Amino acid sequence: MKSELPESYETFKEIDLLHRYTDRLFLEHQIHLMKNEWEAALGKFEKVYEFRNQNISDEEELLIPLYGSILKKIPEGGAVQFFIREHKLITKNLLKYLRLLGKKALNPEALNLDLVRLFDEYYDLKDLFDHHDARERGFLFPALDEHVVTKERGRLLKIITKRQNTLLKKWEDME
Ligand SMILES: [Fe+2]
Repeated sequence: MKSELPESYETFKEIDLLHRYTDRLFLEHQIHLMKNEWEAALGKFEKVYEFRNQNISDEEELLIPLYGSILKKIPEGGAVQFFIREHKLITKNLLKYLRLLGKKALNPEALNLDLVRLFDEYYDLKDLFDHHDARERGFLFPALDEHVVTKERGRLLKIITKRQNTLLKKWEDME
């Protein structure tokens, strides 16, 4: 799949494009599952896992502490602990399914994967992504775009762009 990620980020709100990118990868993952293509399904899921984790690290290391320190009053719904808590939940869930899919890909015969049940669980996971992404679109990114000075914004977005391009390159080389 051709990446539709921006080559560089100019504003914080554009980071949501990465969220959309992982949503598309997740859909591709599900299509592979429906065709019983376990190895390919695992590959797509690993990609979701790595891009989501990179995004979480970027936010927790570079964005959320800044967000917490520059706002005079943090709005209700945009509390720092909400972002962190949801990140933990996302990571925990991704890891859980990564293990399961890994087992299935390693030995498809030995493990019976109930796809109906799995897709049912995925509904909750996708809900968690949607909920979390909406919170960042609503609070985190706009606040940073409004309050962080241009020079600092450029510096941070450059770091995020660079990390993302490294990850993209790694996957391009593997696929
Ligand atoms: Fe996040």
